[in-house]
Amino acid sequence: MDNKRKVKVGLIGLGNIGGRTHVKNLKTLEAVEVVGVCDIKKDKADKAAAELNTKAYYNHTELFEKSGLEAVIIAVPHYDHTPISVEAFSRGLHVLCEKPVAVHVNDAKKTMEEYEKAKAKNPNIVFGMMFQERTLPFHKKIKDIIDGGELGQLIRVTWINTAWFRSQAYYDSSDWRATWAGEGGGILTNQCPHNLDLYQWLFGVPARISGFAHIGKYHNIEVEDEVTAYFEHDNGMIGHFIVTTAETPGTNRFEIVGEYGNLVYEKEKLVFYRNRTSMLKFSKETKEGFGKIESWYTEIPVNVNAPKGHIVVTEKFFNAVLNGGGELIAHGNEGIKSVTIANAIMLSSFSKKMIDIPFDGEEYENKLEELKKTSRFVKTIRNDVETDISKSFSKG
Ligand SMILES: NC(=O)c1ccc[n+]([C@@H]2O[C@H](COP(=O)([O-])OP(=O)(O)OC[C@H]3O[C@@H](n4cnc5c(N)ncnc54)[C@H](O)[C@@H]3O)[C@@H](O)[C@H]2O)c1
Repeated sequence: MDNKRKVKVGLIGLGNIGGRTHVKNLKTLEAVEVVGVCDIKKDKADKAAAELNTKAYYNHTELFEKSGLEAVIIAVPHYDHTPISVEAFSRGLHVLCEKPVAVHVNDAKKTMEEYEKAKAKNPNIVFGMMFQERTLPFHKKIKDIIDGGELGQLIRVTWINTAWFRSQAYYDSSDWRATWAGEGGGILTNQCPHNLDLYQWLFGVPARISGFAHIGKYHNIEVEDEVTAYFEHDNGMIGHFIVTTAETPGTNRFEIVGEYGNLVYEKEKLVFYRNRTSMLKFSKETKEGFGKIESWYTEIPVNVNAPKGHIVVTEKFFNAVLNGGGELIAHGNEGIKSVTIANAIMLSSFSKKMIDIPFDGEEYENKLEELKKTSRFVKTIRNDVETDISKSFSKG
């Protein structure tokens, strides 16, 4: 890497994540020069510009045209990820997009198409996704174990992640939150893109999905706040995904079962109940009607002090820009996978049937349009809400 060169970057969206985490990280990175920040709210843009000693813009097109940026971080509400990413790629800019890449698969495809066009002109163009949970030490260790084949054939995955508690005040803190028109979904679109991305990163996108989503069950919102989903994979593995923003203290238990035992991640502990032989082999060969395989308890050591989080994703992104390519934590084109799972769960819940993947993106987009048009929801907005976003980040 050329240590002297700095990437000229712009940051769009200066709310919870943009105005705090991204601003903080950009201050510490030596390989970047922030040439402009942008928010449609003038006070937010001015504040971040002062903090980063750069220029404020109040419209992203103006930032694109006037700041001289070569890369952009997009941290605006979800629906705008698509038009802003598309415009950035059409101008040949490198993009680091906040999760989710888009609200629905049709929009995700638009971004990917524009990225491919940009790549045809400049093969070094970088498209990264902010999936920082892939950098968390426990998640990396789980990936390592699964990819190493130590569980053998995978049988079942059950992820109960109900530790996403959100209060009514949270939902009332921004005008776009928890509405079909503003956000395009609830827990699956906002909180769970990380979990759905990790799921697909570890096991792939399921082949079939059944979903049960409750709309505004525990909050005054018009989107889902409690979801149970059932996944089937072509290799026979099944998955359960149970999430809500309505439980506290909540549970985060990730149970992965293979022929060689169970891997369980819960309460910052990763345990492998390791079978001495394959369950599949034992089941076929044993004469014991009630026999079980000897299984060993192993607590897996994990280096929790390894570098992690948003900063790692951001650093890799800028290194790739500087080096004309390189490893990313999550490539932008992978963003569509978690969106696919989220949309399929909702489509299944609305239509009360199992959804085969891939499904008709048009059908889901039309359903969202209908929900927007027929919405009678009256949004409450409060300005007195405390929002310390760092409290929401997973520690794993
Ligand atoms: N990776 C993570 O850990 C993480 C955490 C929180 C949020 N996010 C994602 O970041 C995005 C923003 O979430 P947030 O919680 O910061 O929301 P927020 O409402 O706090 O902030 C969004 C900001 O974008 C501004 N904005 C809206 N439309 C804009 C536009 N077209 N151009 C410029 N500015 C615009 C708003 O004025 C606001 O200041 C969401 O997509 C969310 O999913 C990611």
